[in-house]
Amino acid sequence: MDLKKKMLRDDALEGKNIIVTGGGSGLGKSMTSYFLELGANVAITSRNLEKLQNTAKELENETGGKCFAVQCDVRHYDQVEAMRDAVIDEFGSVDILLNNAAGNFISPTERLSANAFDTIIDIVLKGSKNCTLALGKHWIDKKEENKTILNIVTTYAWTGSAYVVPSATAKAGVLAMTRSLAVEWAKYGIRSNAIAPGPFPTKGAWDRLLPGDLKEKFDLAKKVPLKRVGDHQELANLAAYLVSDFSAYVNGEVITIDGGEWLKGAGQFNLLEAVPEEMWDMLENMIKAKKNK
Ligand code: COA
Repeated sequence: MDLKKKMLRDDALEGKNIIVTGGGSGLGKSMTSYFLELGANVAITSRNLEKLQNTAKELENETGGKCFAVQCDVRHYDQVEAMRDAVIDEFGSVDILLNNAAGNFISPTERLSANAFDTIIDIVLKGSKNCTLALGKHWIDKKEENKTILNIVTTYAWTGSAYVVPSATAKAGVLAMTRSLAVEWAKYGIRSNAIAPGPFPTKGAWDRLLPGDLKEKFDLAKKVPLKRVGDHQELANLAAYLVSDFSAYVNGEVITIDGGEWLKGAGQFNLLEAVPEEMWDMLENMIKAKKNK
């Protein structure tokens, strides 16, 4: 199976102008690269302008597309509005907002300072809110239609997760915003959807979330029923579909792409996977013997 195979046809995002927050590295960069290949213009934003400019240059050379780097800390509404206006000056309009920028750290919650908790809430929830509001107000005011917001959340947005509580709390809020606005803003021609990715290795997040030999100790592939982590192209394929006009009737949905990881943790009897065939034979014989008594 070729996991790197590209799903959509070459012109699938022709004429679309996209903002990808946190587009300078990791999954944001992978999604940006595919959007450019599909004919979109993409503006990438983060705090680090030099990193963004390097990524923009690299992706333009690789794809022949147009990638615009704009510095913006999504925590600050004035910076978000300035970023939006800079992208409109450059591209003429914005059609798609991909809220991808995130921050996270692992820690027992009682060890976190109030400011540490706020930092994650501010980047993830307030940042997604800032971008959504800045673009939404603009689209509604200008009566522009056929717009799309795509939010990157996580499966623990609905299960919760120990040791990443600020992130879980913030992502749950982003999911609630996705579903709420899918209904409220549909009348303005704005769709809202989300993707909940499972383990997709990236240098930044994985070094941060599984530092040192934690990476060896907790092989995340083992937690996935499909016994592997995701390939970035698999996520990019789904994201491209959800921001394209091919998904025009998909609104308010969160699509999980995790190889079945979260459900494995949820099903009450899933741990029976550890039972070997011989033991199943024994159990079956015992049950049958009881029935025949
Ligand atoms: N564990 C616990 N607390 C931490 C921490 C960690 N690993 N890293 C930072 N903090 C605390 C700081 O001590 C500070 O709190 P204090 O003022 O009470 O001491 C607070 O968080 C803010 O830290 P600061 O370094 O000023 O924040 P920042 O705004 O510069 O950056 C991140 C915070 C999360 C954005 C930064 O770690 C980062 O750039 N991460 C990369 C992006 C990322 O996390 N990607 C993964 C996405 S899943």
